[in-house]
Amino acid sequence: MTTPTSLVQEFTRLYGPGDNQVRTFFAPGRVNLIGELIDYNGGLVMPAAIALGITAVCRARSDRIVRLCSLDDPVAVEIDLNRPIEPDRARGWGNYPAGVVHELLLRGFDLVGADVLFTTMLPQGAGLSSSAAMEVLTAFSFLALADAPLSDLKGMALLCQKVENQFVGVNCGIMDQFAVALCRQDHALLLNCDSQDFTHIPVALGAYALVIMNTSRQRRLAESKYNERRAECDAVLQLLGTDAPHNGLVHAQWSDVLSHVADPVLQRRARHVITEHKRVKEASQMLATGDLAAFGKLLDESHTSLRDDYEVTGPYLDAIVSAAQQAPGCLGARMTGAGFAGCAIALVKQADMPAFTASVRSAYLTATGLEPSFYETRAVDGVHETTGEA
Ligand code: GLA
Repeated sequence: MTTPTSLVQEFTRLYGPGDNQVRTFFAPGRVNLIGELIDYNGGLVMPAAIALGITAVCRARSDRIVRLCSLDDPVAVEIDLNRPIEPDRARGWGNYPAGVVHELLLRGFDLVGADVLFTTMLPQGAGLSSSAAMEVLTAFSFLALADAPLSDLKGMALLCQKVENQFVGVNCGIMDQFAVALCRQDHALLLNCDSQDFTHIPVALGAYALVIMNTSRQRRLAESKYNERRAECDAVLQLLGTDAPHNGLVHAQWSDVLSHVADPVLQRRARHVITEHKRVKEASQMLATGDLAAFGKLLDESHTSLRDDYEVTGPYLDAIVSAAQQAPGCLGARMTGAGFAGCAIALVKQADMPAFTASVRSAYLTATGLEPSFYETRAVDGVHETTGEA
């Protein structure tokens, strides 16, 4: 892993010495504990920020040029703040920061040119929100360099979601950008995606730990069936007609779905949305009372619903979740994120962790031929400046 000191050294090697202060910012990735694929249906979701994330080393320039490099990708990006900024395929990863800079300028922020070096510990396409982390990190860093106020983290999250929807072209909901911007250490973010109200709820796992299990199979959101599922949910709302809830499909009555929607596939989609929302409400109470066994059971039920009703799990996530559910010390497991591949999470007794990972690894390897990886994680703070931290 690159230490902050060696990262700053690398920055100076790359961009040379300069008069302005070199500042460092960090944005975490996220896992969603429960409430999957219902953010765009007005539901409650419960993400937590994780210690894996993206770091940006930045230095303001005296002109209006932005130079962006990454330790993890050979594509380097240059943007002139005085010229129009359009999406550009050749810019690759650089479209996320470029889109954010473009949107900040549109909103009238008086940005300054900057040299920036990014480095990431977030595996790409693993469903841990590397794109939201890059977007929110860029917004926060450029506002900080411009001496603009940083307190409106919710506004920043919404701006970044707009960039992802309109500049990058992925029709995501609000969960990831809110999580990256607003999560707090040792807490999950209980976010109402209809009202955009949120509370921080303590995650006290005692003798248990949350483990991220990476299937080592990449997921590409833009190519996944993400937009298709959104369209299916819209189709259910259309069929519900005057019985459609105004604040999202999560609030629909199952009896209304049965009486208005004949297609069994659409019925199943709606059933996932309605039952998952109920599970989030129950899960927040179970976390509050420390009933981890019941919380774990909800994780299992969520995965079953995503597999059978929403059909977004796929063979890799099913294999790793099923391996986890049968492994020592596991209270529950489910896929996390948009689905099809990427990562799952499990709630595991700390004392059993070595036996757990050995058992999951062996079963998953046998089932898929792929080597999984594991990260034991804790809930950390959202985006922030780390300049001067050791
Ligand atoms: C992706 C999207 C989010 C959310 C999750 C699934 O991460 O970006 O808005 O829909 O999938 O819960």
